[in-house]
Amino acid sequence: MKVVFFGTQPYDRESFDTINNNGAYGFDIVYHHSHLTPDNAVLARGAEAVCIFVNDTADAAAIRRLADERVRLIALRCAGFNNVDLKAAAACGIGVVRVPAYSPHAVAEHAVALLLALDRKVHRAYWRTRDGNFSLHGLLGFDLYGKTAGVVGTGRIARALIGILKGFGMEVLAYDICPDEEYARTAGITYVTLDELYRRSDVISLHCPLTEQTRYMINADSIARMKPGVVLLNTGRGQLIHTEALIEGLKQRRIGAAGLDVYEEEAAYFYEDTSDRIMSDDVLARLLSFNNVLVTSHQGFFTREALDNIARTTLDNIRTFASGAPLVNEVRFEA
Ligand code: NAI
Repeated sequence: MKVVFFGTQPYDRESFDTINNNGAYGFDIVYHHSHLTPDNAVLARGAEAVCIFVNDTADAAAIRRLADERVRLIALRCAGFNNVDLKAAAACGIGVVRVPAYSPHAVAEHAVALLLALDRKVHRAYWRTRDGNFSLHGLLGFDLYGKTAGVVGTGRIARALIGILKGFGMEVLAYDICPDEEYARTAGITYVTLDELYRRSDVISLHCPLTEQTRYMINADSIARMKPGVVLLNTGRGQLIHTEALIEGLKQRRIGAAGLDVYEEEAAYFYEDTSDRIMSDDVLARLLSFNNVLVTSHQGFFTREALDNIARTTLDNIRTFASGAPLVNEVRFEA
């Protein structure tokens, strides 16, 4: 069976080729570097399944074009599915599957990498010592021990993160629309309202999906309710944060530091080398100008273990579809 991949990088090809050949899946895979858009959906011609990632656009127009090409499955090689119009997919009879969990540890550990780097100014110390500057001026951090972390969403990634934060000796407050009190008891955390989480947390980390309810949940109003100097971490989705409000919060020193693995307009930049170009995104340029902001290029998932699991689960999902059995890891439209 032919499967057309969009938005691929060399490392995707390497991990998928290895698993496709060694795991005896034997799919005829065609890789495209370009993202899926309505204009290039035609590249899927002859394939029953397409495989896409976080910055591909499977909106209604792209899905209709895929249906015209007789595609019957969209296999996401990621967990989030906010970039797929599920209603359009259902209307066109196209199934949607994803990889719900490939390594929550990868993303949780990346959030901690951002936190430690920002707190102890590792990114600044790195450049200083290379330039023979051994001064500590401006590098003062704070102990994580005894501080309060607020975790939004308590799913797989958040739980891996909470385990690490508890190891640092932090108190953990959490907010989730579906609180799991049994988990809270065993993990030693407390569910609170969002308002209390904002008010009491020294560090806030976002781990809920991007939905109509969570879009721009971090905005001027919520930032005003946060503890001054809070460290904000986003390894979820860019649109959880209203970036211009974040910039204002940084300028007013309400936000002490921000670690961002995702950015609301990331599709135009992330995963590409744009160093030869002039940056036209003034908001991103402003973000990058702060010495207390670390932007990484949606790399939370990027560990060997995660890539391996992503390839294996994606190909399993496609094999189930090819066999005609009920889809596994399906994402359905809910009215
Ligand atoms: P999960 O599905 O295990 O957990 C999500 C949690 O968020 C659930 O407990 C759910 O009840 C909660 N939630 C849903 N709506 C909420 C709301 N309005 N307010 C508060 N909580 C809400 O998901 P998982 O695997 O932990 O991933 C979380 C998110 O992380 C994904 O949706 C994805 O956007 C992002 N992600 C980022 C990656 C990266 O490379 N930076 C990689 C993988 C996921």
